[in-house]
Amino acid sequence: MAPHSSLLLCFFLSVSSILSSGQTEATTINSLVPKSLYDSIFIHKDNTACPANGFYTYESFVEATRRFPKFASVGSPEARRREVAAFLAQISHETTGGWPTAPDGPYAWGLCFKEEVSPQSNYCDSSNKDWPCFSNKTYQGRGPIQLSWNYNYGPAGRALGFDGLKNPEIVATNSVIAFQTALWFWMTEQSPKPSCHDVMIGKYRPTMADLMANRTAGFGLTTNIINGGLECGIPGDGRVNNRIGFFQRYAGLFKVATGPNLDCEKQRPYA
Ligand SMILES: *[C@@H]1O[C@H](CO)[C@@H](O)[C@H](O)[C@H]1NC(C)=O
Ligand SMILES: *[C@@H]1O[C@H](CO)[C@@H](O)[C@H](O)[C@H]1NC(C)=O
Repeated sequence: MAPHSSLLLCFFLSVSSILSSGQTEATTINSLVPKSLYDSIFIHKDNTACPANGFYTYESFVEATRRFPKFASVGSPEARRREVAAFLAQISHETTGGWPTAPDGPYAWGLCFKEEVSPQSNYCDSSNKDWPCFSNKTYQGRGPIQLSWNYNYGPAGRALGFDGLKNPEIVATNSVIAFQTALWFWMTEQSPKPSCHDVMIGKYRPTMADLMANRTAGFGLTTNIINGGLECGIPGDGRVNNRIGFFQRYAGLFKVATGPNLDCEKQRPYA
């Protein structure tokens, strides 16, 4: 064999090992959340009554996760299933089209909406000079996590490679970017808040202030991270209970225990 062909052989071998490691990642999310499970979780997402029908495809979800290789791939098999169940539950509450007597129950209608209906404001915090709003652009909830406010669109866009301030609409028109914004929010620590990912994989270590505020690990803490200022520290809040309802249904489908601290009614929100 001439010297070059062994070089060529090396080249092919390394290309094929890169390809196969890529395939391993894809297989992981595909085996953790097979399409049949995704479809049984989101029974009504493509119902014509849902404004997002046709948008939140399984393929977009899988493709978006490739940007975040640590999502649902750290810790025990149970921790991975619990993290995905928690993530899917939170995005379901954010986008639900369900109601108490809905067909298949209130927790079968996640991913029904892709954009907030009749926003009460343009969600521009003009005091935020790091992420200045564009004139005529509005930053209402869009996508699976209902990304809101200029100070979230700006950093999400910077991290994911789109101009979140100038082109916030893309979060409701490109389904891969839409899922990526939700995963970005889930995976990214925004001090003093930990990331939802770190909470669900057991990596979160409470500070003294967290201990004083009862912010202990569990699904309830992810609710506090997402919308605690409006929902936590309130006895029996309906929104918090709706999030928990989704999580309990999904944990059942993933055959994993929910773990403790589902609620945040005894937690103080972040300042
Ligand atoms: C904003 O909207 C107003 C009214 O529709 C229009 O006159 C103006 O040119 C727009 N400004 C920009 C920067 O697009
Ligand atoms: C923490 O939880 C305990 C009971 O579980 C409660 O009595 C206390 O008021 C809570 N603290 C805060 C700051 O909410």
